[in-house]
Amino acid sequence: MTEQTRMIDIYIMGKQFCGACATIYNFKNDSQLRYDLACQKTAEQDMYLVQIPFFPAAKAIYNLEELEPTGEQVLRLYPDLVKCFGCNTCTKSCPQQLEVMWYMSDALRSDIREVANKSFDCVMCGLCAARCPQGLVPYNIALLYRRLYGRYLAPRSKQLEDRIAEIEAGKFDDLLEELKTLSQKELHRRYNERDIESAD
Ligand code: SF4
Ligand code: SF4
Ligand code: FES
Repeated sequence: MTEQTRMIDIYIMGKQFCGACATIYNFKNDSQLRYDLACQKTAEQDMYLVQIPFFPAAKAIYNLEELEPTGEQVLRLYPDLVKCFGCNTCTKSCPQQLEVMWYMSDALRSDIREVANKSFDCVMCGLCAARCPQGLVPYNIALLYRRLYGRYLAPRSKQLEDRIAEIEAGKFDDLLEELKTLSQKELHRRYNERDIESAD
């Protein structure tokens, strides 16, 4: 993979999901509520829908550099976590098909790595929190666990450190400037023609 196609990867892949369009819908003569991201769901005949507006869900304020990577630390910031009674409503609401109830269970057991893994694809859409009967905010709790994992527990990657040093030294500045001038068609062409590294 060339440096240029790596930058195109970052530019295009980073734009796919933002979590801003949490939507509830049902159908005529079928009142069962369903949950999805509007931009990922094709409209169907007789569909009735409403988008969930942003709401100020509980979010602890902390300085990651001052925290310890322990479950006790998370409980101090989110004491309501113990109120989770495993109803699974959050899992049924998740448009990313994440095992939300199970990562909440892992959170209660202070398993930082498992919460980070199971919640990795969370897009912070808010649907799980909007439906939790206990008023919990699974996605903010999981975000804290992912931050603790990334800051304190994840193995360090030499390639990543080297790349960050290259970025900070300005190695890709010219390439980024060039990408900003390209049409969407040209971006897609370069993206589709990029070299792909073997997974081996
Ligand atoms: S909806 Fe709330 S109480 Fe129910 S399992 Fe999920 S986090 Fe726990
Ligand atoms: S875990 Fe919650 S916030 Fe994250 S994608 Fe699923 S429903 Fe949305
Ligand atoms: S608009 Fe970003 S996830 Fe739907």
